[in-house]
Amino acid sequence: MMRKGFNIEDKISSRLKNLEEYVFFDLAKATKNAVLSGKDVIDLGGGNPDLPPHPKIIEALKKEAEVLENHRHPVYEGLPELKKAIASWFEKRFGTGVDPDSEILILIGSKEGLSHVSLVFIDKGDGALVPDPAYPIYSRGVILAGGNVLDMPLLRENLWRPDFNKLQKKDLSKAKLLFLNYPNNPTGALADKEFFKEVVDFAKENELVICQDMAYSEITFDGNKSVSMLQIPEAKERTLEFHSFSKTYGMTGWRLGFVVGNGALLNALKNVEVVVNSGVFHVLQKAAMVALSLPDEAIKKVCETYQERRDVLVTGLNGLGWEVENPKGGIFVWAKIPYEYDSKKMAKLLIDKAGVVTTPGVGLGSQGEGYLRFSLIADKESMKETVERIKALSF
Ligand SMILES: Cc1ncc(COP(=O)(O)O)c(C=O)c1O
Repeated sequence: MMRKGFNIEDKISSRLKNLEEYVFFDLAKATKNAVLSGKDVIDLGGGNPDLPPHPKIIEALKKEAEVLENHRHPVYEGLPELKKAIASWFEKRFGTGVDPDSEILILIGSKEGLSHVSLVFIDKGDGALVPDPAYPIYSRGVILAGGNVLDMPLLRENLWRPDFNKLQKKDLSKAKLLFLNYPNNPTGALADKEFFKEVVDFAKENELVICQDMAYSEITFDGNKSVSMLQIPEAKERTLEFHSFSKTYGMTGWRLGFVVGNGALLNALKNVEVVVNSGVFHVLQKAAMVALSLPDEAIKKVCETYQERRDVLVTGLNGLGWEVENPKGGIFVWAKIPYEYDSKKMAKLLIDKAGVVTTPGVGLGSQGEGYLRFSLIADKESMKETVERIKALSF
């Protein structure tokens, strides 16, 4: 047989080739270039909170690092004492019990679990319903597992929720998973119990596993509170809900999250986790217990800080003639572009001419075209300055 020579492109799987470029990787490159060119950059591109962890968390991190036993191989599924602390927090916060042994699994950040969930449930040709726009990992995970992404448009007129009546008319016979994310990135929408009840009914009718991403569970504004899918009777039989320490506690770099939900679904996910990963550094898990025990006041302060930034940015953009809604939760402002620019062009213009980094909406899905996402990850003055710099541009 004739060999055609070693070609790396030929070796790369079609699953990987099928992935579109990762918007945040592109953004990081563009930001780096802008900084290198000497620009005074305001980086509102990623979901990387600037608020540091509470001093008590850092204190615990240092203390636990001194305990030599903590440096040994971690427990695969997570420290029992952290899982117990999560169960107590969950009960107090949502009034719903979860069993620490069988219904909680510790993750290396929620992104990791959200990607592996597709490896657990998706065979070649299976489908997963994915919101559009959305945090990219849901669709990328499905594609990497060899599955098909079934888009669920999130539209403003539908409160940024999927329209289940429309979806019901599609062929969903191959669909296995339903991804959701509330508080929502990028739109800032919240869910309520009525909507989650609809989700559970739709999932039951179509025999779907619900994967609800609650990375922003505690960051809500104007007195609103997020609800858990597990507060809906019957949800637990088919739900995995992904939580994160990254945003609420400013612990993004730690890579620490957890999933709660149905014991059998969770056990299936655990079977992938134990093969691919080897647990999470115990120092991080022990310090995370301190995060969960912080007084409500500490979290309230975080929400107030993001809300103040939101108010400056939204009021400022609306003052320039944009039509921007106040997000109800999360750390983003989802802004419709009021000029004749597509989202990539507009994002590039803002970097090049104003030194402001935003995420082009199309990077989060085709429904995101025509939008920019501003992250609230810089102080109030930077939000003001962002508005001033946009005001100074001519369109
Ligand atoms: C909606 C959403 N889910 C999950 C994540 C990832 O969180 P983690 O740091 O826990 O992996 C992010 C991060 O930006 C996010 O925006």
